[in-house]
Amino acid sequence: MSQPGTILSHVGLGPYRSESTQTYVDPTRPGSRPGQVESARAEVESVRQLLASAFLQSIYRRYNIASLTQERKMWGLSRKGVSGFSSSSTALQVTQGIHATALTAIVTGASSGIGAETARVLALRGVHVIMGVIDMIDANNLKKSILKEIPTAKVDVMKLDLSSMVSVQNFATEFNSTRLPLNILINNAGICAVPFMLSTDNVELQFAINYLGHFHLTNLLLDNMKKTTGESKVKGRIVNVSSTGHRFTYHGGIHFEKINDPLR
Ligand SMILES: NC(=O)c1ccc[n+]([C@@H]2O[C@H](COP(=O)([O-])OP(=O)(O)OC[C@H]3O[C@@H](n4cnc5c(N)ncnc54)[C@H](OP(=O)(O)O)[C@@H]3O)[C@@H](O)[C@H]2O)c1
Repeated sequence: MSQPGTILSHVGLGPYRSESTQTYVDPTRPGSRPGQVESARAEVESVRQLLASAFLQSIYRRYNIASLTQERKMWGLSRKGVSGFSSSSTALQVTQGIHATALTAIVTGASSGIGAETARVLALRGVHVIMGVIDMIDANNLKKSILKEIPTAKVDVMKLDLSSMVSVQNFATEFNSTRLPLNILINNAGICAVPFMLSTDNVELQFAINYLGHFHLTNLLLDNMKKTTGESKVKGRIVNVSSTGHRFTYHGGIHFEKINDPLR
């Protein structure tokens, strides 16, 4: 399988989705009504997309980039790592020739994007896939389409909201109570560049989902993975899907004391 941190399937550099089912809290505008908040949010989003698009266009013009292949070369996405794969390798390429019917994997955020493709391809290789998802309807639709393509696929859907520590705890308890082994944990779910929001536990939403939720989840599943490794003699693997954006942090790294500062 891939090296830790490898994105199993690159699905493009398009704008991130920024929808969320969380309650939107705008602490800078106490008493603001949901309608106002929604329209302000839409405005911020459209400006953000315009700026991102203008930035990309200027880079394209400056480096005379005409195709996605050229773009990938420019960003280094085609450079192969020690695994022999690059950021533009697909999940199908990475897992080619692998028959993994003895393995069980959890993929978070598996109802769309990279997570959905990862779940599909793991199922194709015989892995028992548990989709940890916030949207059960989307996930069950995806499960149906996987089963249509691969009738022998082993796919289960379980509710997981990484923005809530209670939900993470419930997911882990439910999974561990199934007595299924755990060989692979793919911490894929994530949000990016969203307006300031708080999780149900009152932590800035992106930090809560992308980091704290996955950290807590991994901790709660670690004993299961260790036990599985001991019994099967097959090393466990935890993959944290991330972004090259981590290279552009604030000066001095993460400002933990300002995580909940809406102006950051
Ligand atoms: N696509 C890229 O070019 C790119 C680049 C760099 C890094 N990444 C990283 O790759 C990962 C996947 O991104 P993607 O492009 O596939 O994005 P995506 O299509 O938006 O998928 C993200 C998934 O995370 C789920 N999710 C969001 N909030 C959640 C929560 N509170 N609990 C559980 N699941 C939640 C979403 O569910 P809903 O759809 O139901 O909200 C969705 O299924 C992310 O970690 C992202 O940061 C992507």
